[in-house]
Amino acid sequence: MQVRVFNNKDEASQAAFEIIKDGMANGAKTLGLATGSSPVALYDKMTASDLDFSNMTSVNLDEYVGLSGDNDQSYRYFMNSHLFNKKPFKETFVPNGLATDADNEPARYDQVIANHPIDIQLLGIGRNGHIGFNEPGSPLDGGTQKVHLTQSTIDANARFFADEKDVPTYAYSMGIGSILKGKKILLLAFGEDKADAIKATVEGPVTTDCPASALQNHDDVILLVDEAAASKL
Ligand code: GLP
Repeated sequence: MQVRVFNNKDEASQAAFEIIKDGMANGAKTLGLATGSSPVALYDKMTASDLDFSNMTSVNLDEYVGLSGDNDQSYRYFMNSHLFNKKPFKETFVPNGLATDADNEPARYDQVIANHPIDIQLLGIGRNGHIGFNEPGSPLDGGTQKVHLTQSTIDANARFFADEKDVPTYAYSMGIGSILKGKKILLLAFGEDKADAIKATVEGPVTTDCPASALQNHDDVILLVDEAAASKL
């Protein structure tokens, strides 16, 4: 695992942008994408660039159960507004929050991932070390699951909703096993709130208590962090 510490989010996001640009120049066709505030500066750089994504495919990590793509709190809406509406991709995949067959949605999404092997997987990290919505306790080798969000994640996400009661309690998330199949993995983390999770990811044992620690088992992971997120290393 390579840890690169930057003065600020902008510099780290620029480095992530360069890695994606080089990857595309070297044949990357499928990007695994993430939501949350951490990748926003990177998406701004992608949309401001002259890179052409019209031959690219994206596969997103997760989606809230019960939210439609038109709901401005859904991850589909987030991706459309931050990236896809500005830079069209060939195909974009996000789990379907309104899947009528909820039991089948994880298997359907696993098939999407199998059909579109991910060249570069982008990740943020939760304060409790979650990646995607794989909360502590999730299997480190699993596929897509319907997951029950922890109170800490609900609290962290409540700022985006009018009322905490509106925050969905379930999500579909790509599993850690699927994430680890990405050929190259980039994890972005900024701010002091992430320092404990980054320490556990890099220095802790590989344990379900910190889902991101499973990244230690992958041979091409780059953490792009600011000084605050790196402050406990
Ligand atoms: C959510 C998302 C994660 C994201 C995390 C951190 O829980 N499911 O993919 O990494 O939030 O978000 P932020 O980047 O806003 O700190």
